[in-house]
Order: sequence, then C-alpha cells, then structure tokens
Amino acid sequence: MSAEKMATTASANGAGPVSEGKDTLSPEDLSELLALGTKEVHEKAENTQFVKDFLRGRIRKELFKLGAVALYYTYTAMEEEIERNKDHPHFAPLYFPTELHRHEALARDLEYFYGPDWESKVSCSKAAQRYVDRIHQVGQDDPVLLVSHAYTRYMGDLSGGQVLKKVAQRAMKLPPTGEGLEFYQFDGIHSAKEFKQLYRSRMNELVLDGDTKKRLVDEAVKAFQFNMEVFDELEEIGKTIQEDVLDAGVPVHGAMGGDIS
Ligand code: HEM
Repeated sequence: MSAEKMATTASANGAGPVSEGKDTLSPEDLSELLALGTKEVHEKAENTQFVKDFLRGRIRKELFKLGAVALYYTYTAMEEEIERNKDHPHFAPLYFPTELHRHEALARDLEYFYGPDWESKVSCSKAAQRYVDRIHQVGQDDPVLLVSHAYTRYMGDLSGGQVLKKVAQRAMKLPPTGEGLEFYQFDGIHSAKEFKQLYRSRMNELVLDGDTKKRLVDEAVKAFQFNMEVFDELEEIGKTIQEDVLDAGVPVHGAMGGDIS
C-alpha cells in the first residue's frame, strides 16, 4: 500500500484545479525541504511496532482508544495554538479550520468509545503531554514552527487516513457508518491529493529565510519523534494488557479476525 509513497512524496505540485502559485518546484521550496528532511524519520515511524501491528490489522481496541485519547490532546493543543496564530503572516495562509481541524471529530470518537461522560474518563499520557507542551511552547514563543506541527499531522492524516480507517473498521468491527472513526473522515475535503497540492503551494509561498526553513525541517523531525514516542508508549501499555489482543487479532465467536493480509 505504500508502493507509491516514496515516489510521490516529493512529486511535483502545481497541477490540478485547486492548485495555486508556480508550477515548478525548486530545492528551496519548503514543501520539498520538509518532504526530504523527514523522509528518514517517516520510514522510522512506519516501522515502529505499534504502527506495523496497526497496518496488519492487529489492533487492540483498548490501545486504539488510548491512541485516540493521545490524538485528542495533541489536536486540542495544536488547534488552540493555530487559532491563536491564525492571523500571523507565517501561519495565516495555512489556516483551514473547516477542512482540517480534528478536535471536534476526536471528541465525538471519544464519546463513542467512552460514553457521554468520556471527559472524566480520559487523561493525557506522559508522552502525549510532552508533545502537547512542545506545541504550546512553539505556538506562544515561536509560532512559525507551528507550520511543522501542522504539516506533520495534517499531511500525514490526508495521506494514510483512508487506509487506516478501513483497517481499523475491519479489525475492531466498528460500524460501517463511521462511528468511532470520524477522525479519519475529512468531510470538507473532496480530493486529498488536490488539497495536499494546495497546502504545499501555500507553504511554499510563506516568506521565510533559509535559516528559518532549516529550523522548520528540524521541528518537523521533532514532531515525528513526538509521535513515535506516543506509539512506543502505547506499545509498552499494550504489553500490560496482553489478553486484549485476542479481541481483535484472532477469530472470536467463529468470526474472522482482523488480519488484513
Ligand atoms: C506522506 C504512508 C505514517 C506523516 C505519506 C504518503 C504515504 C504515507 C503513502 C505519501 C502520500 C502522497 O505523497 O500523496 C504512511 C504509512 C504510514 C505512515 C503507510 C504508517 C502507518 C506516518 C506518520 C506520520 C506521517 C506516523 C507522522 C505523524 C506523513 C507526512 C506526509 C506523509 C507529513 C507528507 C509528506 C510530503 O508529501 O511532504 N505517508 N505514513 N506518516 N506522511 Fe505518512
């Protein structure tokens, strides 16, 4: 499923009805610098045990729920800082709340999984808290770096989201109507491919010097690392709830298990 990935990660933008700006890319373009600069850490993220298990359909519902909780705190922080900086010239062109923002979708997913009093049942894990703290620090002290956090999450969500949704739906036998998986559903975006082209061209139009672009790449690498720390934390928690594997991974009550391979 990732066959086209590396070939397309650094592909040309500028084509398509929603694209803006120039048609050719230059090595100084932020979109290119980010794609290239995070290529290695992206591969690392794809190869964490938690992510590999997820892609194989080996998803423990309790862990999936905790993952959604971590995402909830992460997006709440990120979107709070985005709102704070929505008029900042280094972020304003990337402000797409209707299309991208995930806070409300995640709140609905958590309500589905934990019930109406979900807010009293969830808390922010240590790894998620470190990620959240960094997002707030950046949003308040160095807002240009929010670009890296938004890029890492939203571009990633728009890239693998539909596949992850199907895997999760099948493995956990969630309703086909999408409850519990609203996070993966971008109702305001018709074509993820075209939207990503628009987002890349908006990033490339930001007026930034070379040093700032370098700091943005470094911050995106950090953002990937924060995500990996959350995955590793989930993996550790998973070791303490082994029995739950049986719920998703092997046939239960005569039904097929969650393995997609
Ligand atoms: C891009 C797959 C994990 C962030 C992509 C693309 C694919 C992909 C196919 C290219 C889409 C395109 O160019 O149109 C996967 C798979 C993953 C995974 C199979 C493992 C489950 C992650 C994680 C993150 C992430 C954990 C960060 C939290 C990104 C970003 C891009 C991207 C930021 C955009 C790259 C660019 O075009 O600049 N991913 N991904 N991915 N992914 Fe992932």
